[in-house]
Amino acid sequence: MGIDSKPTNYPNHIGMIMDGNGRWAKERGLSRNKGHRQGVEACQRVVKACQELDVHYLTLYAFSAENWKRPESEVNALMELLEYFLAKELKTLVEKKIRLRAIGRLDGLPAHLNRAVVEAIDATKEFNEWNLTLALNYSSRNEIVDAAKSISNAVAEGRLSVGDIDWDTFAEGMYTHDLPDPDLIIRTSGENRLSNFLMMQSAYAELVFTDTYWPDFTKAHLEECIKTYCARERRYGLTGEQVSKKKLVSK
Ligand code: FPP
Repeated sequence: MGIDSKPTNYPNHIGMIMDGNGRWAKERGLSRNKGHRQGVEACQRVVKACQELDVHYLTLYAFSAENWKRPESEVNALMELLEYFLAKELKTLVEKKIRLRAIGRLDGLPAHLNRAVVEAIDATKEFNEWNLTLALNYSSRNEIVDAAKSISNAVAEGRLSVGDIDWDTFAEGMYTHDLPDPDLIIRTSGENRLSNFLMMQSAYAELVFTDTYWPDFTKAHLEECIKTYCARERRYGLTGEQVSKKKLVSK
């Protein structure tokens, strides 16, 4: 079933934990790397679907800081696939006016991948309506550590006083400083956890878990997840009655 008219509580930013590539491959007697290759096709489908479904921000958890612990051959394959994705997708991003960003410790990526990321970011930097962010060598815990270091430096250099530190100061120091918080986090493959992905930014996000393995994830699955999101009530600490009243006032 399609989404016919856009409700007011429609997600502006979706974060995607793309899980299940390995199991998808294993069930077919294929190598894990073949699963990741199919996963890239799912990425391309979902980038396209987001624009068609009027979702303006998409963040893909492509490689976590913990993923370096995987076998070397798998890490190398993932790095190659990321480069392939950037090379192949850049033309589409430019055509569709989608701005690319990357979050994570990008200086920890292989130099040639880092260069490809920087070039793709630069080639799309004028766009602002549609936004794709890749989380690369990303960890929420590293992100908060990095933000704390930059805040500490600002205090040490006299640019900031300790009493003025609040959440906005932290948000400014996060890799996501120019992104809205995610409204919806989707994790595929039946696993129900965040795995160090956008932990602080997801404080009020709705979480949707689907059993579908990432390589099988389609626009129809995405629509189902969005419908689940739209049927939920986000209360941000208020009571249900307060939320209903607010909705009436803003009508
Ligand atoms: C989890 O599946 C997926 C990853 C660790 C990486 C996701 C990478 C891709 C989808 C391909 C490259 C990405 C882009 C943006 C081009 P898993 O291997 O943990 O699956 P399993 O839990 O079934 O073993």
